[in-house]
Amino acid sequence: MYDGVERMNLLEALVQGEALPGDECRELALALDPARIPAHIAIIMDGNGRWAKRRGLPRVAGHRAGVATVRKIVEDCANLGVKALTLYAFSAENWKRPRTEIDMLWRLLRFYLRHELEDLQRNQIRLQSSGRVEALPERVFEELRAVECATARNQGMRLNLAINYSARNELVDAVNAIIDEARIEGRLSELVVDEKAISRRLYTAGLPEPDLLIRTSGEMRVSNFLLWQIAYAELYVTDTLWPDFNRLELLRAVLDFQRRERRFGGLSEPPAESASGPAPEMEEIAVSSQ
Ligand code: FPP
Repeated sequence: MYDGVERMNLLEALVQGEALPGDECRELALALDPARIPAHIAIIMDGNGRWAKRRGLPRVAGHRAGVATVRKIVEDCANLGVKALTLYAFSAENWKRPRTEIDMLWRLLRFYLRHELEDLQRNQIRLQSSGRVEALPERVFEELRAVECATARNQGMRLNLAINYSARNELVDAVNAIIDEARIEGRLSELVVDEKAISRRLYTAGLPEPDLLIRTSGEMRVSNFLLWQIAYAELYVTDTLWPDFNRLELLRAVLDFQRRERRFGGLSEPPAESASGPAPEMEEIAVSSQ
């Protein structure tokens, strides 16, 4: 319940809505299993520059159009019941871009933060960030922290903006935090690091690991994004450029995810020997090697 008004789940709304011939969103909504919506979706929003170039526009026009997509996809994910959405907004490597483009990205981020606060509150979305955000221009950093504080008590979807983010930096920061803590507590000589210790000190601590990683604009790489957390994520790459990504594309990605078989390194069916002794071919190997 938000503001006393029950929000209709996106899938329900699509299924119950007027059926238009060829309404692919509705067909996808009918095909989706509402009980298996990915808990955490992470998105590499790529292709803003190409989108602008194809239209003979400056790159910043692509980023501006990208923000409009962010606004719609955030709302759709929240209404789908996604628990966490991580968006790769600015990588630690993006500082290599021209100063004018970087400045424009900060301006767009501030615009987004200012204009979305009301919608975030209405949708009970809690905004947080991942990355070395202290290195952002002061005003951007302050506005980011202000929105994080203002939405900190919201109980709905967690919107995690990866800004000045690098997965390698994140791991370095986590390991250094573990060492610093041990030094302060005087237990450095007995320090043993395990997976749990690292996970607890990642920027994403407290969020479920991403189930689905979407990358727009067709490149088949992960670009230093959430390297630890995506160990078992399902990858979905679409040729669509980020400004053109929409609800239909999102539902397609979720349906594709639901059709995958996730084994997490195990087997989909128990091996034959676990039920009734070794499988026949294993017996043959055992006999022939005696
Ligand atoms: C990649 O496209 C996109 C980025 C580096 C920035 C993404 C930023 C936004 C969508 C806007 C700000 C975000 C928020 C959350 C308000 P690219 O420029 O690398 O595209 P190209 O590969 O086609 O050149």
